[in-house]
Amino acid sequence: MKKRIAFLTGTLFFTTLTAAEPLALQRVMKELGKNMQIVTDGISREDWVLVEHTAHQIGEHPEAPPDEKIRIISFMGSNMGKFKSFDAQTHEAAHEMAEAAQDKNGQSVIAAFQKLQTGCLACHQTFRPAFTEHFYGKSK
Ligand code: HEC
Repeated sequence: MKKRIAFLTGTLFFTTLTAAEPLALQRVMKELGKNMQIVTDGISREDWVLVEHTAHQIGEHPEAPPDEKIRIISFMGSNMGKFKSFDAQTHEAAHEMAEAAQDKNGQSVIAAFQKLQTGCLACHQTFRPAFTEHFYGKSK
């Protein structure tokens, strides 16, 4: 019995040590994903006020806290410029989408939405596998 408890405690301890806490960035990303769904729904309903509001939220998403930023920057190394440019691309597209929604120009909203999603995908394809491997020890 004692041995068994020792084993269980050991396992628990090991699990706690190895299970990496999700980064704040992951919460930011989940929120971006949700907001993209809201935009899709807004386009279907031609609810341009909702699209404009949500586009601003996408474009002005919160940043990772400073200590996490340092971890990300040191992981990215010389790729940081590229990582940042993908981020800039999505901010620009979100801004364009907000303007198009303000003009109630559905076609332009969709064009900007495509540009936005292309930016998300480009960063994910380029960086996500190595990123999750590094921070969580697994590829998603
Ligand atoms: C500059 C790079 C970059 C850009 C641009 C980017 N992402 Fe991400 N995204 C990441 C990284 C890195 C992860 C993995 C984060 C993690 O698991 O901690 C991620 C993960 C995600 C996830 C999965 C979160 C989860 O539940 O594990 C979603 C959803 C997501 N991003 C949505 C978006 C959307 C929508 C956009 C565009 C509006 C976007 N991302 C733009 C880098 C980016």
